[in-house]
Amino acid sequence: MRIDILTLFPQMFSGPLTESILKRAQTNGLLDIRLHDIRDYTTDRHHTADDSPYGGGGGMIMKAEPILAAVEDVLGAVRDGIPVILTTPQGAVFNQRWAKELSRHERLLFLCGRYEGIDERVRDLVVTHEMSIGDYVLTGGELPTLVMVDAIARHIPGVLGEEGAADKDSHATGLLEYPQYTRPPTIRGLSIPAALLSGNHKEIERWRRAESIKRTWLRRPDLLLTADLSEKEKWLLATLALEWLNARQ
Ligand code: ADE
Repeated sequence: MRIDILTLFPQMFSGPLTESILKRAQTNGLLDIRLHDIRDYTTDRHHTADDSPYGGGGGMIMKAEPILAAVEDVLGAVRDGIPVILTTPQGAVFNQRWAKELSRHERLLFLCGRYEGIDERVRDLVVTHEMSIGDYVLTGGELPTLVMVDAIARHIPGVLGEEGAADKDSHATGLLEYPQYTRPPTIRGLSIPAALLSGNHKEIERWRRAESIKRTWLRRPDLLLTADLSEKEKWLLATLALEWLNARQ
């Protein structure tokens, strides 16, 4: 997959993209990330990328022309349905489903918003998606872009090594992940749940599923509305709900 990122601060990307799994994905040719400095597309002597808003008011607005020139240069005349994603707190909230959906495209373009906003004509002319990473306001779209690129890249076959591992994540299954343990067997009096030491794969699977359901019930009960549960698991959930109700009184 090729991902082009248009930003006023390309340096912000160096650490996260040059370490660990994202670094390996680029070395292996699974991911081709290209950073473009919007300032390189300004035409005035001072490389002005922002200006004050028509109608007054505080703050600076990102100018349209350098961004339009950058998008045209990077994408060329034929867009071929390539998503042009503007990061903004006004966008649709990004989640695992979006990560998977966007990972199916061969190319993506991220446009990192900054300052108080962006000239509306950029939206009108080139933006296809507006995405937010949550209901809070950051100083710009660089960190949101990194968050989304990371979540999307995990879905590209081969990036995680083990094929299909992203499908087992928290959220991918509709449930939160079960507790995990590694050596040593006892730490400060805390030991490993017996089921995990049983060597019985069926029992381990059952225990993990039940713990996932319990954890989701306690932390994110909203997810259970759409989770795929068997009849037996629905009974487990009913028992948990009953215990919870009884504990309240
Ligand atoms: N820019 C500023 N805040 C943001 C957010 N929460 N999501 C995406 N882009 C942003």
